[in-house]
Amino acid sequence: MSDPMSCPEFFQNPYPFYDELRSAAPVKQVTTGSGGRPSYLVTGYAEAKAAFTDPGLSKDATRFFADRPSGRNLHPAVAHTMLATDPPEHTRLRRLVTKAFTTGAVTRLRPYIRHTADHLLDGLPKDGKADLVAGLAVPLPVTVICQLLGVPEADRAQVRTWSNDLFAAGQPQRIDEASHAVAGYMTDLIEAKRRTPDDSLLHHLIAVRDEGEKLSEDELVSLAVLLLVAGHETTTNFIGNAILALLQHPGLLDRVRTDPRELSSLLDELLRYDSPVGIATFRYSAQAITLGETEIPAGVPVLISPGAANRDPAHYPTPDRPDADRDARGHLAFGHGIHRCLGAPLALAEAEIALGGLLARFPGLRLAVTPEELRWRRTRLMRGLESLPVLTR
Ligand code: HEM
Repeated sequence: MSDPMSCPEFFQNPYPFYDELRSAAPVKQVTTGSGGRPSYLVTGYAEAKAAFTDPGLSKDATRFFADRPSGRNLHPAVAHTMLATDPPEHTRLRRLVTKAFTTGAVTRLRPYIRHTADHLLDGLPKDGKADLVAGLAVPLPVTVICQLLGVPEADRAQVRTWSNDLFAAGQPQRIDEASHAVAGYMTDLIEAKRRTPDDSLLHHLIAVRDEGEKLSEDELVSLAVLLLVAGHETTTNFIGNAILALLQHPGLLDRVRTDPRELSSLLDELLRYDSPVGIATFRYSAQAITLGETEIPAGVPVLISPGAANRDPAHYPTPDRPDADRDARGHLAFGHGIHRCLGAPLALAEAEIALGGLLARFPGLRLAVTPEELRWRRTRLMRGLESLPVLTR
């Protein structure tokens, strides 16, 4: 199986593929995701955790592929975000962002998240068919990030379209155009926030200082774009995958319905069970390293699969069953180490509010299609549904 992602069945259900790969080797040479060139796919939990902290693995693709013509015209603010930097650049950026993006900022957003979720739930039919991806999972995260950044209401529909375009799998030109549009927009928005300060994260990022250091103009634009991109499709997939897991496991659903307070502790298990970054996140070997028992040469892509690692039976017994009593807090759905997700508290707050509101409002909620009829997105990073048709009564 040199390129599992070339099989159409892979995207419908990657887990049997992961099991086969992991049994062969938890770090295995494949040709996936690198235009036919060799790369390494990490499917074991221990190996993935080690990969996330291995200093021999870099996030900065430009160090390896700068000389290779890509034919792409992605805006640098999108191509080279903090997520694609290594220490010491990463350390400095992350320190500055962490000063502005505090847990207090997430707590202050909760009423807005609730208000937005309620508004979206109001729009669903009371006793008919609804698509919870289009009606809830897509609009909630992007609206919340716009609020966090301080994007004015009037511009949000446009920003939402660009953000969706940035994920247009298989359409590089559309992605490149959206990258320029969104970077241009954020540049203007930052200028506006300089003139008229407000309480938005963007304004706090402009103001943040650390021992005299501050973010440059390019860094600000790039961070604004990163927050938009990183917090959008990931959280959409989380909400969709989590609702599906509940609807497919009546025992879990009953438990949450009986005691809604169980929901917040169940979220980690739902993230483990069907991880939003379910396919892979990239690294590049800056030097030859040994991961698990596999020797990896210098200069090749290494794909860490949080989705596969989180179903490793060596770490999680009976991994294919979501279990409300499992302590899943060590899952790798948010990554691990220096790049661990900065938006995890925000994503958890959004999912808790969206799922809590949905279940309270629709006691008879159920799937409107068979599991085989569900369509999954075909991207090499994320695992998420195209749509989630449900009956609301
Ligand atoms: C990084 C997952 C939501 C902002 C990451 C990484 C993962 C991840 C796996 C690390 C990637 C790597 O090491 O290669 C998720 C999931 C989410 C989610 C599953 C939803 C359930 C969010 C939200 C935001 C956000 C809502 C912000 C509004 C970021 C940022 C980074 C990041 C800024 C880069 C951190 C760094 O490079 O230091 N996320 N994320 N994420 N995430 Fe999230």
